[in-house]
Amino acid sequence: MRQVLIAGNWKMNGSRSSIRELLDGVKAGAGEIKSAELAVCAPFPYLADVQEQLNGTGISWGAQNLSTEEKGAFTGEVSAAMLLDFDCKYVIVGHSERRSLYGEDDALVAKKYAVARKAGLKPIFCVGETLEERESNVTEDVVARQIDALIALEGVAALADGVIAYEPVWAIGTGKTASPEQAQAVHAFIRAKLANADAAVAEKVQILYGGSMNPANAADLLAMADIDGGLIGGASLKADDFLAIGKAAG
Ligand code: 13P
Repeated sequence: MRQVLIAGNWKMNGSRSSIRELLDGVKAGAGEIKSAELAVCAPFPYLADVQEQLNGTGISWGAQNLSTEEKGAFTGEVSAAMLLDFDCKYVIVGHSERRSLYGEDDALVAKKYAVARKAGLKPIFCVGETLEERESNVTEDVVARQIDALIALEGVAALADGVIAYEPVWAIGTGKTASPEQAQAVHAFIRAKLANADAAVAEKVQILYGGSMNPANAADLLAMADIDGGLIGGASLKADDFLAIGKAAG
């Protein structure tokens, strides 16, 4: 059985005080969540606070991006070692906002995954199609291309202990969720694609769904055979909603 992971992506939201309040709420209810692992991916400046507040709680934390470089003259960048300094477990790579707004291409995202993994972080590798791509029936081609960039660089084994997040771009922040069947179809495609290369890796890799996941739709999505959790944006900013999604995992 794959562990269910409910990960919050706070994006560029919050303040020291709002994050304290949010984490107080999450900590207060986390004991009622039986099967899912909870994690939050925070903006860099708050990692020290998050570490202090979540240490010893069983709730994991991580970041939303990292540099491919180890150290040096890279103004504004943050390395894997810096994230490990704050005991980050996870780091999101290749979120569609980074791909579309900051020009991160498949090769760079694959490199970020490789660097994070080699450093001992668990990268959450985001893939997904735009509305235009879905309407042109190229969803599988797009997702395959994104994953192939990683396999070409690192080999399929690099995914065995990793996490993939399928996030259809048209469902992110729009309130429009992929139906459980739509999401399951892409998750199954991803797992079958990996199984072609290595059945054991395909069985192990956690594939999360992301895109307007909320307390009302989480249970149906999480009930699907190949959906192993969620990457939650807006709903992760409210403790009750985030916890309700965790509970929906069963
Ligand atoms: P929303 O849950 O706000 O749609 O965001 C999803 C997302 O982008 C998580 O990474």
